[in-house]
Amino acid sequence: MTYAIIGSGAIGSAVARQFARSNIDVLIANSRGPESLAGLVAELGPHVTPATVPDAMKADVVILAVPFTTVGDAVQGSAQWNGRIVVDATNAIDFPAFTPKDLGGRPSTAIVAEMVPGARVVKAFNTLPAAVLASEPAQDGGRRVLFVSGNDASASADIARLIERLGFAPITLGELNQGGLLQQFGAPLVAQNMTKHG
Ligand SMILES: NC(=O)c1ccc[n+]([C@@H]2O[C@H](COP(=O)([O-])OP(=O)(O)OC[C@H]3O[C@@H](n4cnc5c(N)ncnc54)[C@H](OP(=O)(O)O)[C@@H]3O)[C@@H](O)[C@H]2O)c1
Repeated sequence: MTYAIIGSGAIGSAVARQFARSNIDVLIANSRGPESLAGLVAELGPHVTPATVPDAMKADVVILAVPFTTVGDAVQGSAQWNGRIVVDATNAIDFPAFTPKDLGGRPSTAIVAEMVPGARVVKAFNTLPAAVLASEPAQDGGRRVLFVSGNDASASADIARLIERLGFAPITLGELNQGGLLQQFGAPLVAQNMTKHG
């Protein structure tokens, strides 16, 4: 399975750091092009490869780590999704108020899913502050928890397995209109830095 991260800011680089730590190959792309990623990939090592957005969009699993409002721009021109997996790490936030966007009660990831027709969309990597997400997932004899939601159980299971390989403890919550709503910005599971033992 091939992996790519779109976005190399706080969350994109935190996720890339975990891929590097686990020796799993991943492409990373941003809006400024692969040259702008030279410093980051030099720091993270050979498992993290800079790419253009169109090349990164061809991966089996594409992790979106861009601002919610730029998802549409980021994914425009992507190849047919054909059941490939998109992981939505975005949070729908109104700035500068830093309040949840009013989405009329819809899961933010359902809105992202409309922008990637044909993809199987999973929400993950959005609940922890970037500095916590970037840090060692093994904690006090346990593993830091990451939540997973999605309407395709098989895709959610694939991302839960990836999260295990990255050293975290996945907790799968169910579909977007249940678990997705619980783990999106403004909901109870955001910023819950939990550790699972056993
Ligand atoms: N920061 C946190 O603690 C945190 C926690 C949980 C969830 N989140 C969510 O994660 C997402 C990313 O947040 P962040 O803090 O990492 O933001 P950030 O530091 O501002 O980074 C955003 C990244 O998105 C890239 N980008 C923007 N538009 C793009 C486009 N059209 N095509 C390709 N790349 C594009 C930017 O590219 P350039 O580098 O070229 O500008 C940048 O690398 C947001 O939805 C945020 O709500 C953030």
